[in-house]
Amino acid sequence: MKFFIDTANLEQIREAQAMGVLDGVTTNPSLMAKEGITGANSILKHYVEICEIVDGDVSAEVIAVDFEGMVREGNALSSLHSQIVVKIPMTEEGVKALKYFSDAGIKTNCTLVFSVGQALLAAKAGATYVSPFIGRLDDVSTDGLDLIEDIRLVYDNFAFETEILAASVRNTMHIVNCAKIGADVMTGPLSAIKGLLKHPLTDIGLDKFLADYKKGN
Ligand code: E4P
Repeated sequence: MKFFIDTANLEQIREAQAMGVLDGVTTNPSLMAKEGITGANSILKHYVEICEIVDGDVSAEVIAVDFEGMVREGNALSSLHSQIVVKIPMTEEGVKALKYFSDAGIKTNCTLVFSVGQALLAAKAGATYVSPFIGRLDDVSTDGLDLIEDIRLVYDNFAFETEILAASVRNTMHIVNCAKIGADVMTGPLSAIKGLLKHPLTDIGLDKFLADYKKGN
């Protein structure tokens, strides 16, 4: 499973990259605003900085909601850097744009997906990634992991090549369960990735090994 980090924070992206387990980055307008990155020029510059830190795909979201605007913005984003993936919302205009970019050989990430039907449309339109938001489903008392399972089933039924990018991952167990189900990618915060490291028996065992080593030296 690929690990993407879901942030526009350069420090956190550097830290995840330095761990050697990072495969890419996802961002969205809210994450950009959280880092105080506003205005088209600053946002574009920030995408390039992110691409220079990581080796893999970097999702950059269009703001336009009409097909022509999405195509214009997506082409501009894609020409910024070879690692940019154009992130497009799951709407009718968005599906047209996914098909346009798929035909043009430009990678896409279909965002704001909350149902199997939407995921099916994204795959039919040739999206590179589909992003079901599991945390936001959990927030409204609906099991987000069930959606990942259902999309996996449908995509496997027809050998769709669209990769399932489990998004809105909030914690370490989300990551583990996405891996069990067979999500191709997960995107989450650094805290959830680093949570995978933790086990008290590892800490206790390491303390004992170091203490025993010291006894003999
Ligand atoms: C996905 O690409 C989104 O940026 C993201 O995962 C949304 O997560 P949130 O629901 O925690 O805001």
